[in-house]
Amino acid sequence: MAGTPDLACLAGRRVVLGVSGGIAAYKAVEVCRRLVDAGAFVSPVLTQDALRFVGEVTFSALASEPARTSLFGGSDPIPHTRLGQAADLIVIAPCTAKTLGKYAAGISDDLLSATLLATRAPVLIAPAMHTEMWEHPAVQENLQTLRRRGVHVVDPESGRLAGGDSGEGRLASPEAIVAAAAGVLAGSLGELAGVRVLVTAGGTREPIDPVRFVGNRSSGKMGHALADVAAARGAAVTLVTTTGLPAAAGVEIVPVATAEEMADAVFSRYPEADVVVMAAAVADFRPKAVAPEKLKKQAGVPEVVLEPTPDILAGLGERKTHQVLVGFAAETEHVVEHARAKVEAKNLDLIVANDVSAPDQGFEVDTNRGILIESSGFVGETPLVSKVELAGLVLDRITGMLAPERARREEQQ
Ligand code: CTP
Repeated sequence: MAGTPDLACLAGRRVVLGVSGGIAAYKAVEVCRRLVDAGAFVSPVLTQDALRFVGEVTFSALASEPARTSLFGGSDPIPHTRLGQAADLIVIAPCTAKTLGKYAAGISDDLLSATLLATRAPVLIAPAMHTEMWEHPAVQENLQTLRRRGVHVVDPESGRLAGGDSGEGRLASPEAIVAAAAGVLAGSLGELAGVRVLVTAGGTREPIDPVRFVGNRSSGKMGHALADVAAARGAAVTLVTTTGLPAAAGVEIVPVATAEEMADAVFSRYPEADVVVMAAAVADFRPKAVAPEKLKKQAGVPEVVLEPTPDILAGLGERKTHQVLVGFAAETEHVVEHARAKVEAKNLDLIVANDVSAPDQGFEVDTNRGILIESSGFVGETPLVSKVELAGLVLDRITGMLAPERARREEQQ
């Protein structure tokens, strides 16, 4: 749960402190000192532009390791991979519009940007720039991309900027940045911090023989967006997925193929989960018998007999103790009526219904329009939005539902 993080969790942890080139770079000296004081092993990485504002020697004198400024010329031929692989956390303060843009686009043309791509460690960025730059759609879209991938952000403050201007874009205080760094390591940053979220994604594949299956048109994008956004908001996320799509850093991926495998993966993790979102398109029927060898054409038209699969969501509804249970409903007619019946039948807290007969929503597209129907009676329709945005709206409703349970637990502590 959110709160003031204990800086003790920084002790002994390896932190790469990236400094990019803006006037706020001088404040990174203080960030470095505070990280070192908290017991972290700090490796500073300065961009060439940062060196216009602050000296390499200052960081080398304060940090646990000498400051690095280049991919080339040092004793280590591959400093980015060594730094990226060894890091427990990467903090970029200040993060300029340029560094932010390069990171979002996956460009690596210096030591800092290469290290960012060569790591699986969590990344925390503290942007700092002039207000006009901060508010530019390109910067905000890059930021959204990074947040979606699970990058943590310490938002800038409002205040005095370079050149006597004033407005939003000033680097957050070193104290706030170090507290956020500790929060990332302690897993206590974000409005879903401390919440365990289980998401399913993709369509199940029910084998007919070793090469053929009964499947459906689900791409898994909705489930992956939900997992990524939940992780970016601080949740501990497990994603049970039939797809090979990537997921944000920190998301635990459990690959499955069939409804049976998905059921096993979900039921075994259910007791520990606080939230379960069944975004997967689970096959309702599967071939009763799976041919051990490939069915040959010469043998004639095969007769494939189907049998029902387990209804995972209904099973979860029956066993519900404290979990917030969310389902999806793909409908082609009487959308609200059918979805509301599923809330009741499967003991759900929320269902996200979509009309998959509409061309711009549902399967294989990047946009979606959801009708959110809750057991409380709430019904709300979202505009046509990206799947990432819809994920955010769904998680907003879930966060609201968790509030009483979280308050009760906090009272007990
Ligand atoms: N679901 C599930 N297990 C199944 C089938 C569906 O857990 N065997 C879940 C889906 O993940 C989704 C919800 O149930 O969250 C609704 O799925 P949907 O196919 O719309 O509903 P069904 O109950 O299968 O009803 P119908 O297909 O008749 O509309």
